[in-house]
Amino acid sequence: MDLKFISTFLCFVLLHSSKTFGDHFTNQSDLETYIVHLEFNNQLFSNSKDVLLWHQSFLPTNLNHSSRILYSYRHVFNGFAATLSSNEVREMEKKPSFVMARPQQIFQMHTTHSPSFLGLHQKVGLWNASNSGKGVIIGLLDTGIDPQHPSFNDNGIPNPPLKWKGKCEFNVTTNCNKKLIGARNIAQLNIPPSDDHGHGTHTSSTTAGNFLDGDNFFGNANCTAVGIAPGAHVAIYKVCYVDCLEFNIIAGLDAAIEDGVDVISISIGLVNFPPLYDDNIAIGAYSAMKKGIFVSCSAGNRGPGSGTVTNGAPWILTVGASTTDRKISAVAVLGNGAEYEGESTFQPTNFSRKLLPLVNGKALLCDTSGYSSRNDKGGRVKNASGAGMILMNEKYRGSTTFSQYDVVPTTQVSYNDGQEIISYGTRIGDKHAPTVGYFSSRGPFVKSQGILKPDIIGPGVNILAAWPTPIGGETTSASSSVTFHILSGTSMSCPHLAGVAALLKSAHPDWSPAAIKSAIMTTADHVNLGNDPIQDETLEPADLLTIGSEHPEDYILYLCGLNYTDDQVSIIVKKKVYCTSRIPQSELTYPSFSIPKESNVQMYTRTVTNVGEAISAYTVKVSGLKGKASYNVTVKPSDLTRHSQGYIVWSSDKHSVRSPIELFPHINVI
Ligand SMILES: *[C@@H]1O[C@H](CO)[C@@H](O)[C@H](O)[C@H]1NC(C)=O
Ligand SMILES: *[C@@H]1O[C@H](CO)[C@@H](O)[C@H](O)[C@H]1NC(C)=O
Ligand SMILES: *[C@@H]1O[C@H](CO)[C@@H](O)[C@H](O)[C@H]1NC(C)=O
Ligand SMILES: *[C@@H]1O[C@H](CO)[C@@H](O)[C@H](O)[C@H]1NC(C)=O
Ligand SMILES: *[C@@H]1O[C@H](CO)[C@@H](O)[C@H](O)[C@H]1NC(C)=O
Ligand SMILES: *[C@@H]1O[C@H](CO)[C@@H](O)[C@H](O)[C@H]1NC(C)=O
Ligand SMILES: *[C@@H]1O[C@H](CO)[C@@H](O)[C@H](O)[C@H]1NC(C)=O
Ligand SMILES: *[C@@H]1O[C@H](CO)[C@@H](O)[C@H](O)[C@H]1NC(C)=O
Ligand SMILES: *[C@@H]1O[C@H](CO)[C@@H](O)[C@H](O)[C@H]1NC(C)=O
Repeated sequence: MDLKFISTFLCFVLLHSSKTFGDHFTNQSDLETYIVHLEFNNQLFSNSKDVLLWHQSFLPTNLNHSSRILYSYRHVFNGFAATLSSNEVREMEKKPSFVMARPQQIFQMHTTHSPSFLGLHQKVGLWNASNSGKGVIIGLLDTGIDPQHPSFNDNGIPNPPLKWKGKCEFNVTTNCNKKLIGARNIAQLNIPPSDDHGHGTHTSSTTAGNFLDGDNFFGNANCTAVGIAPGAHVAIYKVCYVDCLEFNIIAGLDAAIEDGVDVISISIGLVNFPPLYDDNIAIGAYSAMKKGIFVSCSAGNRGPGSGTVTNGAPWILTVGASTTDRKISAVAVLGNGAEYEGESTFQPTNFSRKLLPLVNGKALLCDTSGYSSRNDKGGRVKNASGAGMILMNEKYRGSTTFSQYDVVPTTQVSYNDGQEIISYGTRIGDKHAPTVGYFSSRGPFVKSQGILKPDIIGPGVNILAAWPTPIGGETTSASSSVTFHILSGTSMSCPHLAGVAALLKSAHPDWSPAAIKSAIMTTADHVNLGNDPIQDETLEPADLLTIGSEHPEDYILYLCGLNYTDDQVSIIVKKKVYCTSRIPQSELTYPSFSIPKESNVQMYTRTVTNVGEAISAYTVKVSGLKGKASYNVTVKPSDLTRHSQGYIVWSSDKHSVRSPIELFPHINVI
């Protein structure tokens, strides 16, 4: 064979192809990262190499593809991220199977920067080990993780389930263990996913930090730090490095679905509100939900104005942050509104007025036992970068508390109050109480006002949790090698609810994401009224009603009802859809009601499913037989200008299930 001929031939081919695209020479100053959606194609999804080749065929042939395609997506949707010029995108639009492309956006982490003080720790013995989230994998899209933080110890944690396909990209493979089973750096290839920010370490330990004995960080102080689902496995996907770029977030979701996580926690969001067909977290979460994965997202910190909630797709659990507006520095206020008056003379004038000590997550609750003096304990808390503590009396000390100077803001509470604080446990806040953090984004969700959002509020103010480094230039000491930090934001509340979802999933492996979501939303209200907390639901046999859509067809009717085009609906549900019928958005089977105020009478229908044993009767016309029942709700508001709230209660002998209802004046969206 004539080699010269071949090279001449190749040269000709190259010249020819560059002529084909000759009108579209790359304009270097016009290059941007685009997210490209293609038509869904079931056949392709078994083999990642084929998918990549197919995706490459959408680029001009004279390009070095490996320098242009940043990620090829298979699970969240069929598409890819690539560096392209606008001319190149225009060429691509002509190809069959092309759906849409737009430049990527930058997402924000949902922490506030409020300095905060009081943190509490939780006493041991709160969790019943059988229900601590064992066997469940929580994946977090975040800033990475400090794998050596002792909160990620794997004492008592079983091997990951066989379905797990994830990777550990730390070069020291022992950095991963049975607790931290996956760690990938999506944002920086070939670099370990360590946490240069701290946010990811904080959220990971909040959702599933293991029991960490006070001995580890305070000496013999009888304190314990622990996350919501201490038995669950953690997989971190580092999608933020300096910035949280959209193409990395999608890639993180794609990897989490591929690896086999059960719950995904995303404390990141956009500052604007794209429609659902242009919201890649919503599109990715839909794919996750169809695979049985529960997705919890932060609602955003753009409150208190109306219409500021983000991540509001109905198949996502959208989590706001709770606090209270009652505030006296020496009073410990719980998310359920209970106040425990303690004593403290250490009340700096600049001490945060929004003083919500948070017992969930890495709260610090110490007792007065042991040889350590009170100041000694405080000193250890301070040395470990804790900013405050609740000192709980031992039984014999009863209600006698002492007012004294402390090294860190401390409130001492009586024995009985201490016991109540302990039993407060993992209960979650109540959206009907005046306990929403001022910063927590509010509904309605402007892109679908017929769905009540946020779905729930969880602890999000002054959350003490694991942190990679000592804080605030404190001198390091031996005891501060284990460090904690206090942050606020819906970033902090989202992993709390991901942890609660993991507890429920562990207790009820057969429950769908919709059933878990319904259980969380419809039992949350109890807390405020002093009824059974959701924690009880994880321990008792299932006997709950599910109010939530289990069927893709329901979502299609809903999306068509948003007046999206067939193509727009198809992007979300990843199959060809023709909107021949539709439902008003408020008619989606959803655990809550969000009803725009109108002067005429409105009627809404919900279908409830008994997911438990057919052993109880529920009032409101549903008997406890396995199956479904429909009920109509008729609404006739008297005042059209104000919000009003309420709920429908379904009660059996043992349980009470609530559907929150919110009526709101419609917000016009530009
Ligand atoms: C290249 O792109 C930049 C930015 O979009 C634009 O201002 C400029 O006119 C383009 N140059 C050419 C030759 O098209
Ligand atoms: C293509 O781009 C990749 C990544 O930038 C680079 O490593 C490789 O050398 C390039 N190949 C060619 C043929 O230019
Ligand atoms: C833990 O759960 C088991 C089984 O659900 C129960 O028998 C036991 O009493 C519980 N222990 C505590 C301390 O609640
Ligand atoms: C891990 O590998 C990266 C890249 O090779 C290197 O920069 C880093 O120093 C290594 N880290 C450790 C802890 O060995
Ligand atoms: C409160 O005041 C003290 C003493 O002036 C100072 O060290 C600290 O940084 C202040 N804290 C805040 C949150 O402003
Ligand atoms: C910690 O608490 C346990 C049980 O209450 C007690 O037996 C032990 O002496 C305490 N240890 C210290 C150092 O206070
Ligand atoms: C806190 O750290 C300082 C500085 O290292 C040390 O002198 C002090 O003894 C520590 N306090 C406690 C209670 O451990
Ligand atoms: C969709 O269009 C119908 C008919 O024009 C209208 O009544 C309805 O309010 C629209 N829905 C939304 C969500 O805009
Ligand atoms: C709800 O209202 C619809 C429309 O009026 C009616 O067809 C249906 O029978 C009602 N369902 C129940 C359970 O009353």
